[in-house]
Amino acid sequence: KKVLHIVGARPNFMKVAPIYRAIAARTSLQQVLIHTGQHYDAKMSDVFFSDLGLPTPDEHLGIGSGSHAQQTARMMVELETVFLSHQPDIVSVVGDVNSTIAAALVASKLAIPLAHVEAGLRSHSRHQPEEINRIVTDRLSDLLLTPSRDADANLLKEGLDSSRIHLVGNVMIDSLLTSKEKAEQLPVLKGLGVEPRGYAVCTLHRPSNVDDPKVMGGLLSALAHVASRLPVIFPVHPRTRKMIAEQDLGSYFERSPNLRPVDPMGYLEFLSLTSQARLVLTDSGGLQEETTALGVPCLTLREQTERPITVEQGTNEVVGTDPDRIREAADRALSGQGKKGRVPEFWDGRSGERIADVFARFLNDSRAATRL
Ligand code: UD1
Repeated sequence: KKVLHIVGARPNFMKVAPIYRAIAARTSLQQVLIHTGQHYDAKMSDVFFSDLGLPTPDEHLGIGSGSHAQQTARMMVELETVFLSHQPDIVSVVGDVNSTIAAALVASKLAIPLAHVEAGLRSHSRHQPEEINRIVTDRLSDLLLTPSRDADANLLKEGLDSSRIHLVGNVMIDSLLTSKEKAEQLPVLKGLGVEPRGYAVCTLHRPSNVDDPKVMGGLLSALAHVASRLPVIFPVHPRTRKMIAEQDLGSYFERSPNLRPVDPMGYLEFLSLTSQARLVLTDSGGLQEETTALGVPCLTLREQTERPITVEQGTNEVVGTDPDRIREAADRALSGQGKKGRVPEFWDGRSGERIADVFARFLNDSRAATRL
């Protein structure tokens, strides 16, 4: 029996690595790894394969960037050929990027069982492309592998069959727990000239934040305020770098030398940076979860989160994009009143194993196959 994994964009790699490892330990299952090429810069892709111990993909489709329709459609055309030639018994997709929805559509039309890892997350905002990807992928999936109980509740509310839902925990945290010690031994802080807990980290890449110069300018002014209190290390996503240049926003950095843009980092380098930070400011989804697992205060620069458990139980505070509100929340966090939290259940480093168990059970159960 064969499982075919799809990866494409940066946040996919740390989710697939633990599943790949857990399946590799089972002789009854074969697996194939396909990279769509949605992300193609070495710093957005290659370095993650070496950092996470992922093998070179069996096929790389080289799709690259484009509008949503162009990118998704190009992936679908290529993936159809790939699925027909490999004949997998399960197609496994992770997260909520365009590679996820493209593979989901193609697999379900070929009647190949589809598994979605990180199912059930909802921001309830259809303005986010990821929300559309989540809803459609979940609707089409035969196996819905969820990170937390709120995700199960979302799926049940949408009328999805409970027999398809499997609470397996947060697989990205498997990668974090495997790598944390190794990451912290790297000389990353030394290279940047900062001390443990003596700096903040910022990341921004959501179109709603970085494509609109008014929003982006407000965010940079709030970050400049934080940088007046301690160094802010800002690994800049290619999309954001392009927008800063096009919108002529470079002056914020010139006026605030402590607001320090750096190139995107590899998985271990970045984990080393976040795990020892005093505060994280971000619009990323994954980083909200990683900071909760690390116990590092996080301010989410968005109006809503699809990961409410990081607020209910973890260290995350959703503060929106209003510069005054961000400044206020950052001041509070830096004066030691940052949000404390606990690590949610099943974020324990064993999710990859649980997913492999679900796959093995599904493939052994002939009734599951005839259900399709
Ligand atoms: C994608 C995901 C987003 C995820 C993010 C993580 C979708 C809809 N969005 O957004 O959910 O949080 O990845 O990074 O799938 N670019 C490069 N080099 C690269 C990749 C991209 O320069 O290796 C630039 C290109 O100008 C491209 C732009 O970034 O047009 C956007 O890339 P794209 O893959 O469309 O979306 P992301 O913004 O990266």
